[in-house]
Amino acid sequence: MTTGASSQVFTGRIGRIEVSATLAVAAEAAKLRAQGANLVDFGAGEPHFPTPPHIKDAAIAAIGADFTRYTMVQGIPDVRKAIVERHAADFGSDYALDEAIFTTGGKQALFNTLQILVDHGDEVILPVPYWVSFADIIQYAGGKVVLLQTKEAENFRITADAIEKAITPKTKAIILNSPSNPAGSVVSAEDLERIVHLAHERKIFLLLDECYVYLNYAGKPVSGGSFTFAKEHLVVLGSLSKTYAMTGWRAGFALASKAVTANLGKLQSQSTSNATSFVQKAAIAALAGSQECVSEFRTEFISLRDHMLARLAEIPGITCTRPEGAFYVYPNVSAFLGRGGIKTTTELATRLLHEAHVVPVPGEAFGTAEHIRLSYPVTRQNIDEGIRRMGEFLAKLG
Ligand SMILES: Cc1ncc(COP(=O)(O)O)c(C=O)c1O
Repeated sequence: MTTGASSQVFTGRIGRIEVSATLAVAAEAAKLRAQGANLVDFGAGEPHFPTPPHIKDAAIAAIGADFTRYTMVQGIPDVRKAIVERHAADFGSDYALDEAIFTTGGKQALFNTLQILVDHGDEVILPVPYWVSFADIIQYAGGKVVLLQTKEAENFRITADAIEKAITPKTKAIILNSPSNPAGSVVSAEDLERIVHLAHERKIFLLLDECYVYLNYAGKPVSGGSFTFAKEHLVVLGSLSKTYAMTGWRAGFALASKAVTANLGKLQSQSTSNATSFVQKAAIAALAGSQECVSEFRTEFISLRDHMLARLAEIPGITCTRPEGAFYVYPNVSAFLGRGGIKTTTELATRLLHEAHVVPVPGEAFGTAEHIRLSYPVTRQNIDEGIRRMGEFLAKLG
């Protein structure tokens, strides 16, 4: 039974969304792996490093000390203190403890923010290419996705001018994900400042998805949250997943005005309640402890990006922008569409998975028709082997 076929039984709102494309790719790859296939996996959006020992130790100690009960919905004061102090130290923001909420991953912070801010018919501006979940979550809230096209020739750059043109009287929010998933594009500090001013003056909420904020290879990480004058209209959406190699822990947060965080707390109190108690202790260790692991990861990601770009450049027909952050490349594969019976990047990704045993994510999941996303936190040997397999497969398409 497909989810669509059951639309008479299930609500209209569940019918408005799809299973996350990256998770769907992971499920298909897992099936093949279970049959014994040796896959090179460029699908996963996560660091390949283990969680640093001091973070794991904090969680183990918390369990040992029986820190295993319910906590305050918004997280214990110490974890909120660690969140606001880290952000203040790195970006000069000035959030108070009751302007922070700890969530079960950054995705919960994003999901709940859109549910409390976006009503039926409200428009949300979303730059393309976008992370798969943004569009679905906006639609689940009843909002209208207003896509903002960017140019590949300009590295998919998002500008304040383009955002200003997309604003209408119905615009309720703007989503800004810099560095971005999937293209690794970074909003310049000047554009960011102008976008913050624009949002604040027009009373539009600016949702700053800072999941990759520390993986900015273009320069010093910047946060829109540092523009304290606009706090009323800013929601910083943070995640420990990628920064500290903690994807499975489910640790994220939001920083926003008291009014926003109170409503986030209200919604969370009626769904998941607090994020896992001992994960809060691990998050404190991550945020308040040494940040050396963050810069080590960053250095290694830059090196892996360069390695991946060099290998990709060896495949005739593929072109690729140079990502300035996050840990994905977003090559243009349009030269291969129309060959070997392949019409879409979804078909190309499926054929690559089944015939070359390489796992990409199709660009259609990110709102573009000519790209695939390859996640490069893997070993250099895996990059070499995966790109070799891709090159061989594509060459055979003729
Ligand atoms: C742009 C973006 N935002 C948010 C998230 C959510 O991360 P998490 O829920 O693991 O904190 C992801 C994960 O892939 C992402 O790519």
